[in-house]
Amino acid sequence: MRIAMIGSGYVGLVSGTCFADFGHEVVCVDKDPAKIEALNAGRMPIYEPGLDALVAENVQQGRLSFTTDLKPAVAQADAVFIAVGTPSRRGDGFADLSFVFAAAREIAEAVDGFTVVVTKSTVPVGTGDEVERIIREIRPDAEISVASNPEFLREGAAIGDFKRPDRIVVGAEDPRAEESLREIYRPLFLNQAPILVTGRRTAELTKYAANAFLATKITFINEIADLCEQVGADVQQVARGIGLDNRIGAKFLHAGPGYGGSCFPKDTLALVKTAQDAGTPVRLVETVVAVNDSRKRAMARKVVQACGGSVRGKTVAVLGLTFKPNTDDMRDAPALSIITGLQDAGARVRAYDPEGMEAAKPLLGEVAYARDAYDCAEGADALVIVTEWNAFRALDLARLGQIMADRVLVDLRNVYDRASVQRHGFRYVSVGRPDGEAA
Ligand code: UDX
Repeated sequence: MRIAMIGSGYVGLVSGTCFADFGHEVVCVDKDPAKIEALNAGRMPIYEPGLDALVAENVQQGRLSFTTDLKPAVAQADAVFIAVGTPSRRGDGFADLSFVFAAAREIAEAVDGFTVVVTKSTVPVGTGDEVERIIREIRPDAEISVASNPEFLREGAAIGDFKRPDRIVVGAEDPRAEESLREIYRPLFLNQAPILVTGRRTAELTKYAANAFLATKITFINEIADLCEQVGADVQQVARGIGLDNRIGAKFLHAGPGYGGSCFPKDTLALVKTAQDAGTPVRLVETVVAVNDSRKRAMARKVVQACGGSVRGKTVAVLGLTFKPNTDDMRDAPALSIITGLQDAGARVRAYDPEGMEAAKPLLGEVAYARDAYDCAEGADALVIVTEWNAFRALDLARLGQIMADRVLVDLRNVYDRASVQRHGFRYVSVGRPDGEAA
């Protein structure tokens, strides 16, 4: 199949590259000439493990190319995927669809022959209808079918997720669209990936419902963690105890500083708005959004408490800035609220992240950036693990104990166990576990 991918951001680039790797002929289009130039020179605009090698291989095989020129890419394509951004609109939180609709207009002007137009961006229910209306209005003669095919990729694990998905969801309104998408994903059926074909609106809502459910699961265990701290229980054991029940499932029950990233915060807000507009508010999700927002700020207070009630004039070392490991993405990262909260409380903040520091700099004021975890901890009064990068999982605690001004470790990802940290004379505070005082 010949595929045009409109938008070479995270979703477009990963999906386009993986489709090329399946053997399809893929052209990735983007309006940003600098991005396309970089991609053509083999430089990735994002950090995603394994992506650069996969891009290089498929470019070399002649199956993958990059261009700013939408028209020929669309004209030659059997399927056009819309993978442009849908940021939260300022003010009401609704997804900003201006990029999607602009892409639809450009596609309308360029299509030639039967073409399936597929929305891959996460879009509110009914967007497929609007894309179809826009294209038909501009080109009543166009032979198109508009489908929805949401992605469920996790940053940092996107290539693996694409090649071994739990399921593929296709929202198609006619057999031709369904057939094209089955053909595009055929290589995955060899791995027995289930495909679920639904109506377009159902597919669109499925994506929001999945993300809202996962965000709810995380928020649930985070609240249970707070309760554990008060009653002397251990949230990790509670999570295991409930997660072994197949009806609940073990994943996404890891308590922490609150969810962040490019999807959960934006998609939960958009679902809340869609539901309000439909006159059927999703109160549970509304609460999840509010609880998660306040949790991120509460984490700064947790650090202050661990430091004996004040951080004024103290140096706090923060390990991990990105919203999760293996990405350079800072969007809605808990570190942003935590660092701002610590600064408001009078702390000096020093930070280190293996990939996220460049993206963090414009978002944070007055932070000193370190070369590595030990450089970050040197002379600090407290060390806070905000993101669980592998590099922070086996720190040399004896060395940290020697170089820090005070031995306080706040582990917001429950990476360490209390006994081994306390053995080195640290005061150890984690999330939802009986922490006790330094031995
Ligand atoms: C998510 C969805 O998983 C993916 O299916 C969707 O397509 C896009 O949104 P992503 O944002 O890349 O993917 O990250 P994910 O691994 O889901 O983590 C999201 C946030 O939740 C992170 O901040 C992470 O630290 C947090 N999280 C996740 C927890 O706090 N606890 C958990 O148990 C799991």
